[in-house]
Amino acid sequence: MVAIYTEAYHIWSTELIEYGMVGRSLQVLFLSIDGAECHIYCRFNSEREGRRVNKILEKKQLSDDVYMMRLEAPHIARERQPGQFVILQLDNEFGERIPLTIADADLSDGSITIIFQAVGKTTHNLADKQPGDTVQSVLGPLGQPTHIEKFGTVVCVGGGIGVAPLHPIVKGMKAAGNKMIIIIGARTRNLIILEDEMRALADEFIVCTDDGSYGRKGLVTEPLKEVCGRVPKPDLAVAIGPPIMMKFCAATTLPFSVPTVVSLNTIMIDGTGMCGGCRVSVGDQTKFTCVDGPEFDGHKVDFNNLMQRLKAYRKVEEHAHHQCHLDSEIRQKEQSQS
Ligand code: FAD
Ligand code: FES
Ligand code: MG
Repeated sequence: MVAIYTEAYHIWSTELIEYGMVGRSLQVLFLSIDGAECHIYCRFNSEREGRRVNKILEKKQLSDDVYMMRLEAPHIARERQPGQFVILQLDNEFGERIPLTIADADLSDGSITIIFQAVGKTTHNLADKQPGDTVQSVLGPLGQPTHIEKFGTVVCVGGGIGVAPLHPIVKGMKAAGNKMIIIIGARTRNLIILEDEMRALADEFIVCTDDGSYGRKGLVTEPLKEVCGRVPKPDLAVAIGPPIMMKFCAATTLPFSVPTVVSLNTIMIDGTGMCGGCRVSVGDQTKFTCVDGPEFDGHKVDFNNLMQRLKAYRKVEEHAHHQCHLDSEIRQKEQSQS
């Protein structure tokens, strides 16, 4: 086992860090086991005293496993732009840190909105929290904002939970005067989210389900291909969803030479360009998704490498997820007995 400890980064910006992180050092600890599995932990060197935490103001369940939460984070609410994200740490300094897109913000109460799917330990733990509970730290706004201008016709494609990060981009593109063609898709009807919100922004709206339980039966790439084949063709495509969906959306638009932006969901740890966990190959360059992205030219991304890297911690994640369900069952039993 190799352990390397570095303390090499200093937080300099009040805009970057919500609540009490300013002027403190970021510590990163790398632990590599046998070179095969690599666990990376990172924490801020912050005193606990006097540090504010972020209160959950509202929580709503949008579909089977998808939740919307509004969190108190006034600095981030003020600064955020479409395409940016936060990194949340739920409970303690060594807890896992997860990136989530800022779906919306409300300056009147200084809140940001996140929309997330409970897929593993940390997102399930977040889903268990209630209004009035707190999140230990919210870091952001992170990443490059979406490049928004009047392109002409923009086709936006969202798959599953990818519709949540797509929504603020659609709002921004619409406000810039673009004609919006929106295609959203999910495996089945009850996994469709934000349909009304997206429909309200669309000049043309298409919904697809893999099983045909709602809208068109089939994958989002089918209507995307039809839209790209029109004369005139769209000026830009934006696709956000599972990597496999983004890969095939980019492959669909390539023969039509429609520029295509994708938003990558790489594993992230520090979110500040230090750990290298989020690196991706784009064209002949290595990029860090957290600082150079999360949006990239979909025609240049090496999706196979991305998907391979996303699997790197699968065994550990499955174990943690299983343990989290056991813990929750034990808690429920204890509560019913008391
Ligand atoms: P785990 O069981 O630990 O992991 C499940 C899968 O999620 C993993 O196999 C891996 O593919 C991915 N993952 C795990 N840990 C991380 C990590 N630290 N960083 C990134 N991915 C990870 N999800 C949403 O539901 N809504 C969003 O708005 C959203 N926005 C994102 C924006 C960005 C820039 C990125 C990079 C990811 C975003 N994600 C979003 C994905 C979200 O971060 C993961 O679903 C979450 O980290 C899973 O954590 P877990 O412990 O619950 O699940
Ligand atoms: Fe560490 Fe991007 S998350 S470099
Ligand atoms: Mg996890």
